[in-house]
Amino acid sequence: MTNTSDIHEAEPAVDANAGDYHQAPDQILGAPPGCPVNHSWDPLGQSYMADPYPIAAALREDHPVFYANEVGYVVVTKMADIETVFTNPDVYASSNVQDPLYPLDPRATEVLQAPDFDPIAVMSNRAEPDHARIRVYTRAGFSNRRLKGLEGYARDRANFLVDQMLATDSPAEYVKAFAFPLPAEIVFRFIGFPPEDDSLIKGWCVERKTFSWGKPTPDRQVAIADHMLEYWRYCREFTANRRDNRTDDFASELLDAHDADNNELSYREVESIIYGLSFAGHDPVTNLLCNTLLCLLPRRDQWDALCADPSLIPNAVEETLRYESSQIAWRRVTTQDTTLGGIDLPAGTRIFLNFASANRQPDLFESPNEFDIHRPNAGRHISFGKGIHYCLGQGLAKMEARVALETLVEKAPTLHLVEDQDLTVFPNITFRGPESLLVSWE
Ligand code: HEM
Repeated sequence: MTNTSDIHEAEPAVDANAGDYHQAPDQILGAPPGCPVNHSWDPLGQSYMADPYPIAAALREDHPVFYANEVGYVVVTKMADIETVFTNPDVYASSNVQDPLYPLDPRATEVLQAPDFDPIAVMSNRAEPDHARIRVYTRAGFSNRRLKGLEGYARDRANFLVDQMLATDSPAEYVKAFAFPLPAEIVFRFIGFPPEDDSLIKGWCVERKTFSWGKPTPDRQVAIADHMLEYWRYCREFTANRRDNRTDDFASELLDAHDADNNELSYREVESIIYGLSFAGHDPVTNLLCNTLLCLLPRRDQWDALCADPSLIPNAVEETLRYESSQIAWRRVTTQDTTLGGIDLPAGTRIFLNFASANRQPDLFESPNEFDIHRPNAGRHISFGKGIHYCLGQGLAKMEARVALETLVEKAPTLHLVEDQDLTVFPNITFRGPESLLVSWE
């Protein structure tokens, strides 16, 4: 076993600037004075989970900026205000984006206080100037050369998984057969994790969704915290192994950068990037792959149009990201007193950016509640964020969705959704996609 215990001792000062990767709030904050208050909307409630869009639109029409009592966040619903938040990182910090939504049970906190549970904020939740320093190295990892190499791998795996699915009896469960394994295999190979660990890592990552964006029971929190600790230890062990055995994967590239200058990329930053990326890189893509089918298969004319002309696929993916995004919210916190949409917000206000509302705003998108693969401004959505933290994996996510659809329209043009199936979404405020999806073919 590789020794990881002595590696952190000689860490550079940059690590001292970073907050913990997850910092649970100690309390739910009250409404800012003068801010309209909504006492009934629950972003984890059944009706919102089932169909957030009419509710999000009604909330926007009622008050574009309001305080939601249920979660203790100020909710921002309009595209222009969301973009103001994203493009002013000095006023709206991203430090809370990986934090649990609600205070944690003391037993879960205790688990995460293990002395070796020390991932630090590195990308989505790191402030400037460190974020920009780190992003130079992470952006380099998503070079066109690597994406091209990954596209070949993605196509091979997509072909294999679709063939395997079609060789079984129709119907099949698409999440298990395709949408779950494909993005995981791609991002884990990108990072460098060995294939034999795929299901283990995937299991650990899925739980993060509940931990940071849901409302797990105290017992669940403890179980998830235990697994997060296990996962962090796995990431440390993996990084330590890579330190001694480099290949051409992303982890090796980060370690080379760290070796070149410890003050430019610290060892713990490398470990923490690996910890964060393995989650960011697959769960939203699993959802995107399902959501494309949820949107396309019932609208037969649009599916048939893609089968006849696959060059329409990229815009169909953008339209899915707008109409039924795999990410319908994100968060920020104010660093100073400010005003947004005419509402005064004191420093420390927690902000909930409601993409489900903005992506269907009628003054931006004609007939916003219609799904249309030919929509000229489909890519105007906010699903990858904007500004300095703009999603690093957006090119990879879109490539995977395109390759998945190209494979399906070629090999399974008769694909259908099984009628009257129960579609359930994992209860959380951000990530949206069905937990299972039955598809059939002739
Ligand atoms: C459909 C799939 C995806 C969606 C909807 C999505 C969405 C987002 C959003 C909303 C943000 C926050 C932007 C902000 O704060 O301004 C983000 C950041 C990020 N995403 Fe994605 N993402 C997806 C796939 C991926 C993939 C495949 C990867 C990597 C393999 C990835 C890696 C990241 C990283 C590293 C950040 C932080 C960037 C930074 O802070 O500089 N994402 N993503």
